[in-house]
Amino acid sequence: MNGILRTERLRLEPLMSHHVPAYLAYQIRNRAYLRPWEPDRTDEYYTPESIAHEVARTELDDTCRRFAIFEREGETILGIINLWNIRRGVDQSAGLGYAIDEHHQGRGFATEACRGIIAFAFGELNLHRLQTSYQPHNKASAAVLRKVGFEIIGYAREQLLIDGAWRDGVLVALINSNWKAS
Ligand SMILES: CC(C)(COP(=O)(O)OP(=O)(O)OC[C@H]1O[C@@H](n2cnc3c(N)ncnc32)[C@H](O)[C@@H]1OP(=O)(O)O)[C@@H](O)C(=O)NCCC(=O)NCCS
Repeated sequence: MNGILRTERLRLEPLMSHHVPAYLAYQIRNRAYLRPWEPDRTDEYYTPESIAHEVARTELDDTCRRFAIFEREGETILGIINLWNIRRGVDQSAGLGYAIDEHHQGRGFATEACRGIIAFAFGELNLHRLQTSYQPHNKASAAVLRKVGFEIIGYAREQLLIDGAWRDGVLVALINSNWKAS
């Protein structure tokens, strides 16, 4: 399949309509686990129709590249990683987001997937900058971003409405020192 990214242990597949059943299962499995970290979702989100709609919308969105994470030979979705708000022109930047299945935490998968998508973003997409944020108590995400080279650039008070309250965010960025003017 086109557009697949491979790392030492992982396969990152662009999320497409044939992933809908596996993606729905991943979301249902991780519903409670991801509640403190992801947008608030109602029961209606966890249906084939809603997930299919999300996937179709993502496929059509040039400003977003979303990947399902698998082990090299695996068929179960272990996580999701995406570039969002891809901006060209004077920005040449994107946001980075990711999550790993509750039952596969602490195996280095997020770090490895981030390295894969950074190589793609700075190589094939030739972006100049990635940025994201994490809640101050999200030690695992802070560790992942530190390991792959992000630096702290600021602090946003009451940045995102998550799990029913406005949450602060530590802002981080990574610059592509090999960026090439085309
Ligand atoms: C953040 C997340 C993606 C990390 O996934 P993962 O595959 O477990 O990450 P990795 O194994 O690559 O690395 C995790 C690092 O965090 C560290 N860590 C985990 N929990 C920690 C804690 N409570 N305190 C300090 N460090 C912690 C681990 O030790 C590891 O660092 P190390 O390799 O230096 O030891 C995962 O926890 C997750 O899905 N969380 C919910 C969604 C989320 O937070 N997404 C990001 C939003 S910004």
